[in-house]
Amino acid sequence: MTFTQRVFSGIQPSGDLHLGNYLGAIRRFVPLQDTHETIYCVVDMHAITVWQEPNALRRATREVAAAFIAAGIDPKRSIIFNQSQVVQHAELAWVFNCIARMGWMARMTQFKDKAGKNSENVSLGLFAYPSLMAADILLYKGTHVPVGDDQKQHLELTRDIAAKFNNDYAAAIAEQGLGVDGEFFPITEPLIAGPATRIMSLRDGTKKMSKSDPSEQSRISLLDDADAIAKKIRKATTDPAELPLMVDGLKDRPEADNLVGIYAALSDKTKPEVLAEFGGQGWGRFKPALADLAVSVLAPMSEQMRRLLDDPETIDAVLRDGAARASVIAEQTMAEVRSIIGFIR
Ligand code: TRP
Repeated sequence: MTFTQRVFSGIQPSGDLHLGNYLGAIRRFVPLQDTHETIYCVVDMHAITVWQEPNALRRATREVAAAFIAAGIDPKRSIIFNQSQVVQHAELAWVFNCIARMGWMARMTQFKDKAGKNSENVSLGLFAYPSLMAADILLYKGTHVPVGDDQKQHLELTRDIAAKFNNDYAAAIAEQGLGVDGEFFPITEPLIAGPATRIMSLRDGTKKMSKSDPSEQSRISLLDDADAIAKKIRKATTDPAELPLMVDGLKDRPEADNLVGIYAALSDKTKPEVLAEFGGQGWGRFKPALADLAVSVLAPMSEQMRRLLDDPETIDAVLRDGAARASVIAEQTMAEVRSIIGFIR
């Protein structure tokens, strides 16, 4: 027996999705629908580890759901839902809080980065964040998780939590016949996006494209219309040199490297293929081509997102339907976990 091949991934509803979220994550979720069971979650409980204004949280949750749908995730073939509607996430996270060790959590670089010098004053939830993330994945016995580079450490922690649970409760798992080759939770495989999908700021090629950059010009929002997309690309910072003939020539030219990378990602080509076409040419040729390409891929998506957001009832119905389907799997796992642990029901 083996575990069902099941993909789980989550995106935080923290507002203003941009090109980096699309190319680095959401777009990669789409083809997995052909090969795996796929569950895509808007992780609203993770979002509140830092303050979220309630109306903004509602809107951002719908925005992620709309982006999933507009990108081609089919709510019939995949499960799309928001985390807080399936209460078992919180329940399993508590169990994992009692499995994970303080020392494991204290090593998380994302926590250290986010807390900074302020670690006495951040929420307890921010510290326990990776435990909830492990619960998200393992509640569905997820075998594969597509994430960006920055989530690698959290996935390793998920594997450590699964292994420790399997080991601590090995006797109960065997007694109750609940394991697959002795394992109750699978040891999840990360599907890490390569550096090619790391999208940088349009103003500064050394900084990641980010919603917290004060300059709107630094990012392409997934809600930008065709005009805004084209304008931002035309105004993107570049060096004066023409495009190199080989990828080697992109070294130490972060802005050029980024724009070539965006062209490659949007056209499903490699950087060498893009340079075979544009190498030796100036920005006056390349930027309009990139603007046209970006508009042709992104504008229809942003239009559909805006249409969906004008009709929140439809989005909410998709999330409710997804949550109902997710709950069936989640409750099955949780019932087994309760009985393994020794909780009476
Ligand atoms: N921590 C992830 C991020 O910030 C979001 C997330 C929450 C997630 N739960 C998850 C990703 C489960 C993958 C699987 O990007």
